[in-house]
Amino acid sequence: MTASIIDGKGFAAKVRGEVGRHVKRLKDEHGITPGLAVVLVGEDPASQVYVRSKGKQTVEAGMNSYEHKRDASISQEELLALVEQLNGDPAVHGILVQLPLPDHIDEDLVINAIDPAKDVDGFHISNVGLLGTGQESMVPCTPLGCLMMLRDFHGSLSGMNAVVVGRSNIVGKPMAQLLLGDSCTVTIAHSRTKDIKEVTRRADIVVAAVGRPEMVTGDWIKPGATVIDVGINRIDAPEKGEGKTRLVGDCHFDSCAEVAGAITPVPGGVGPMTIACLLANTLTACCRANG
Ligand code: GUN
Repeated sequence: MTASIIDGKGFAAKVRGEVGRHVKRLKDEHGITPGLAVVLVGEDPASQVYVRSKGKQTVEAGMNSYEHKRDASISQEELLALVEQLNGDPAVHGILVQLPLPDHIDEDLVINAIDPAKDVDGFHISNVGLLGTGQESMVPCTPLGCLMMLRDFHGSLSGMNAVVVGRSNIVGKPMAQLLLGDSCTVTIAHSRTKDIKEVTRRADIVVAAVGRPEMVTGDWIKPGATVIDVGINRIDAPEKGEGKTRLVGDCHFDSCAEVAGAITPVPGGVGPMTIACLLANTLTACCRANG
């Protein structure tokens, strides 16, 4: 079997287009422009790339982008004061503090200082609790993007066996909640799971979010299953020349694609959907703030 490729890049372009049309209507009919503030602390190269990309796509969707770059030496108090300032700014409807933060800063404290209504990452404990109890919340962008692709491909997910590999607060746990909300039978597998291949081989849906390059191979996958690869890992690629690198997912693409019914590529799968969902969450936050 050769898997269908789930085109996250194309789907994300459609979502961004829809967000852009809503933003234009909001502006034309109500004079309101959604605003997203992104806070970047330090010089982490991967974070810089993400933040630049978020800012560019925010502006392309017709929204205001506010970037707040701070030195890695910023104190916790100063960062909390910045979050407070953004909480009180009526032009800012969404706030995203790029993670990871430097070691001397308590990440949970900063995330939980964000006004939950502006928490477009969906990481605030209020939003985590609302999602876990099936109430209206801000939903974390990466799992939301995965769910949208799964719904688009399958229609209903009801009754499907879903295995989420990885138990992070950012992806694994909220992904499991969303799949449960769509009536999947959900298992979370992780580094301590016994005979993990046996677990994933029972799944109709495998979501891999472990941050280990090409860990999931074709022999982990049930024939015909859908594989969603959340990983974005940069590895050495000596075959491309000295010092060259390439991006790979948490799944070994070729071997998984031979067995799976459908699979997301890396790049061009989950990644673009994450930013599209961030824009959608910012629009949602703006609409809720304005009744
Ligand atoms: N760092 C890596 N992924 C994310 C994300 O989705 N949100 C934030 N705030 N930081 C991240």
